[in-house]
Amino acid sequence: MKVIIVKDQNAGGKAGYEVFANAIEEGATVFGLATGGTPETTYQEIVKSDLDFSKCTSINLDEYVGLSATDPQSYHHYMQEHLFENKPFKKSYLPDGQATDENAELKAYDQTIQDNPIDLQLLGIGTNGHIGFNEPGSDFKGQTHKVKLTDSTIAANARYFEDETQVPHYAYSMGIGSIMQAKKILLEAYGENKAEAIAATVQGPVSEECPASILQTHPDVTLIIDEAAAKLL
Ligand code: GLP
Repeated sequence: MKVIIVKDQNAGGKAGYEVFANAIEEGATVFGLATGGTPETTYQEIVKSDLDFSKCTSINLDEYVGLSATDPQSYHHYMQEHLFENKPFKKSYLPDGQATDENAELKAYDQTIQDNPIDLQLLGIGTNGHIGFNEPGSDFKGQTHKVKLTDSTIAANARYFEDETQVPHYAYSMGIGSIMQAKKILLEAYGENKAEAIAATVQGPVSEECPASILQTHPDVTLIIDEAAAKLL
């Protein structure tokens, strides 16, 4: 793993942008994208830049079950607002939170990933080490699936909702097996509340207890973290 320690999230956004720019220069056309507070500065830098994704494909990690694409809390909406509005892709995929045939939706999403092998996968990390919505105990070989969110994830994500009771309890998430197939992975983490998860990711045993620890076995992973998240390294 290549670990880049930056001063703060703004510096991380610039470093994250560089990883995207280099990937494009090397011919990347399929991008695995993430949501949450973490990638916001990277998206801001991309939006300010002249990078062009109009011939590229994006595949997002996850979506809350039950939320429509226009729901302000949905990841569809997040992506529209933070990136797609200003940097449209040729085609963008996110799981459909309102899919009526759940199994068909999960299968179709896996097919999409198979048909569009991911060149660069962007990840954030949960305070419990989750990536996408793959909570501790998730199968390292897993594919797209429905996840019951842990209480700690619901509590952590409540800051984006009016209150904790509004946070959906289920999500559809790309599996760890699919994430690991990406050619290149970029994980960003900022703030002291991510320090334990980062220490377990970088130095801990490779264990399903910390889903992100599997990244130790991937050949091309870059971590961009700030000093606070690097505190326990
Ligand atoms: C959610 C998302 C993850 C994200 C994590 C951390 O659970 N499913 O993809 O990495 O939250 O979010 P944040 O970046 O807001 O701390």
